[in-house]
Amino acid sequence: MTDPAHSARLPRHLAIIMDGNGRWAKARGAEREAGHQAGAESVRVVVRACRRKGIEALTLYSFSTENWRRPAHEVGALMTLLRQYVLQERREILDQGIRLQAIGQIDRLPVLVRTPLRALIRESRDNTGMVLNLALSYGSRAEIVDAMQAIAREVQAGRLSPDAIDEACVDRHLYTAGLPDPELLIRTSGELRISNFLLWQIAYAELHVTDVLWPDFREAHLDAALSDFARRERRFGKTGEQIKEARP
Ligand code: IPE
Ligand code: IPE
Ligand code: MG
Repeated sequence: MTDPAHSARLPRHLAIIMDGNGRWAKARGAEREAGHQAGAESVRVVVRACRRKGIEALTLYSFSTENWRRPAHEVGALMTLLRQYVLQERREILDQGIRLQAIGQIDRLPVLVRTPLRALIRESRDNTGMVLNLALSYGSRAEIVDAMQAIAREVQAGRLSPDAIDEACVDRHLYTAGLPDPELLIRTSGELRISNFLLWQIAYAELHVTDVLWPDFREAHLDAALSDFARRERRFGKTGEQIKEARP
């Protein structure tokens, strides 16, 4: 069921940098892990809402390549939460027709995450409802390097001519191959940076930064971001006048 309120100008692909869990916990005198735990509930709320609204793809920045540098106990707690999320949401993901995908260096994840994650990706692969794309052990520069290596190997093997390397070719070699570029990128907790997320793919994304910390993020905040997006004039290099003329 698609919510008609936003369908007029809904992003096909929404990406979210879910930030502020640690600060949320600190403000309550709790350990950072408690913030991650609370953030998992925001993930549930947002996935359900995006599915209902008819968003085609939702990419959630869940763990970056740089996040491996955090204290071992925090990384461990995040891995446990990821495992719990995949196991607990399995039924709902399948019932809702959601197709789970993951981008990043999945091989670096501990087996306790990798096994249920790969199983649910396989089980949900024919679903057509919404792509839920988890960026896990993800870094955009590593993704671009991987793509360059894959392209170089094809050229070396004589299967690809250097002249045939165009933007579509690069797209096909990124972890996000097959997904439209994100049209809207939300970052919570007020930080004004990209933190190595989807550098190629967000070339023309609209950015929405909110001060709300991720564990406090609810459907009303999502609606505010979607309304903000619907009001933006997306010009892609053209003039405002050209855009108005082209409007039906
Ligand atoms: C985002 O919250 C979750 C991850 C990066 C895994 P943080 O843990 O970065 O929270 P802050 O930024 O320290 O508040
Ligand atoms: C970005 O948040 C990564 C995720 C949300 C998973 P960080 O909290 O790690 O980003 P920086 O280090 O503040 O840029
Ligand atoms: Mg942070």
